[in-house]
Amino acid sequence: MTEPTIYQKIREAVEAIQKRVGSRFPEGPSIGVILGSGLGSIADEATDAVTIPYTEIPHFHGTSVEGHAGKMLVGNYHGTTTVFLQGRFHLYEGYKMEDVVFPTRTVCGLGIQTLVLTNAAGGVNTRYRPADLMLIEDHLNLMGDNPLKGPNLAQLGPRFPDLSEAYSRDCVTLFEECAKELSIPVHRGVYAGLLGPTYETPAEIRMYRTIGADAVGMSTVPETIAANHLGVRVAGISCITNLAAGLSPQKLTHQEVIDNSKLGAEKMKRILRLAIPRLVHRPAGRGAH
Ligand code: HPA
Repeated sequence: MTEPTIYQKIREAVEAIQKRVGSRFPEGPSIGVILGSGLGSIADEATDAVTIPYTEIPHFHGTSVEGHAGKMLVGNYHGTTTVFLQGRFHLYEGYKMEDVVFPTRTVCGLGIQTLVLTNAAGGVNTRYRPADLMLIEDHLNLMGDNPLKGPNLAQLGPRFPDLSEAYSRDCVTLFEECAKELSIPVHRGVYAGLLGPTYETPAEIRMYRTIGADAVGMSTVPETIAANHLGVRVAGISCITNLAAGLSPQKLTHQEVIDNSKLGAEKMKRILRLAIPRLVHRPAGRGAH
């Protein structure tokens, strides 16, 4: 038997998920949310949820990094059918880009209008403090790779996708409005996506600041590219879990990242509770970013 194409694999994963959730949510989810390190508890508010471990979804891998549970959850999130991914695949784990973006392509295949990407990130902007939130306005792809490398998958999208509004301006405005209503201060900034798994050196952080980064992390960029390729609108929020290297006397640890992401998750939860139901009522999709 010949190896199925990426498109066929996505269809198989989508159909397997639809079989599991179809009776409870026949229209499928409108919004997708990928939860970053320490942010998994955001999905706990979904009711009537159908939980599917990644190991039960065709072509998904398990996850290994601490803070990443490795399951999909489709549920009623404050009135909006939402699909959550708890745990993502990172390039630094040794996965191929194709595997890193497979869950993104699958949730987009479920018919969502908007994908909300959350992550834990180091603060490069000197005004940022641990547990602050940053709405992602744009990114720098410094991963040295691109999920669209190789023959274009025309069934998914164009060869040369436009990324001039990779993160929807409407979504940034909406999230900012919600944060304001809740009196939660948020920043707007540029996320630099790096390969990792080492944290950066202080010299690298100075360079990233000079070239326009406000925060650094090891995820999100591939997913943003894959979703844009598919014409799905993207919103991104970073939880600043630590000051980037050289900005604090402390050494950086994954534990600090997890601890502060829990503080940030509480704020993120309050914003998403307001924002997600409102996202559905705003125009979405290709050309209406
Ligand atoms: N650097 C890179 N990735 C990160 C950081 C950081 O300081 N904090 C959380 N993810």
